[in-house]
Amino acid sequence: MNTTGDLWHHYGRVRATTDRTVPKTFRWTWNQDGGPGPEVLGPLTGRCVGELGAGTARHAAHLAVHHRPARVVAVDASPAQYAMATGLYGHLAPRLCTVLSDAVAHLHAMTHTYDVLYSVFGAVDFTEPRKLLPAAAAALRPGGRLVFSTRAHYPSGEHARDDVVPADIPARTPEGGAATMRRWVLKEHVWTRALEEAGFTEITIITPAAAGRGPRTAETLLASAVRRPRPPNSGRR
Ligand SMILES: C[S@@+](CC[C@H](N)C(=O)[O-])C[C@H]1O[C@@H](n2cnc3c(N)ncnc32)[C@H](O)[C@@H]1O
Repeated sequence: MNTTGDLWHHYGRVRATTDRTVPKTFRWTWNQDGGPGPEVLGPLTGRCVGELGAGTARHAAHLAVHHRPARVVAVDASPAQYAMATGLYGHLAPRLCTVLSDAVAHLHAMTHTYDVLYSVFGAVDFTEPRKLLPAAAAALRPGGRLVFSTRAHYPSGEHARDDVVPADIPARTPEGGAATMRRWVLKEHVWTRALEEAGFTEITIITPAAAGRGPRTAETLLASAVRRPRPPNSGRR
């Protein structure tokens, strides 16, 4: 969190007051209206699943109710998002567990724990990939899967970057003042290289089609990667 306060204070707040339901569907696209669903995560029954940057935890709540994971851990660094997630879905514990933490710090504390990690325009978009991706690899069991959806271009229309560099995007303080936050919007080949360097293999990146073309329509990249098994005779995880 920076000195301007919780820049996620406003996100999802209106919906949280009007819609307390567990979503019946799970989508990866920005509009939540098309493309593949949770099957991209692979088998979930009995698995330990973590969402990085879960916001109000609607996706995590869907998995907890409509699938049979051992546990879904919804991690978010924003006190406002954590409070909304806990207020909306705290009753789904212990299958759904909401955690207030920076994703990288959480992953470092959870070495070799998760079968599946995912992010829906979440922490992967807003965290230095050279920190977050290796931490995710270390928190996954060998063969575990990371899936994330991210923007294919900046909301301003600016192109995705050719290197692992962020841009400052506009944000709002809790009081409504102007602020900025860092967002990583990277080209496919840049994500692929960053994932390889972090210890992932079997990397696929697709651009799922959105159903509508409304004002919030934005192209999505959907990346899936498997944590490389530990090399034989290697002391490294
Ligand atoms: C655009 S919102 C998406 C929330 C949710 N995944 C959704 O689809 O509604 C991004 C979320 O990522 C969280 N986030 C960003 N960086 C994070 C980090 N390093 N650790 C944990 N959460 C983070 C923010 O607090 C925010 O709730």
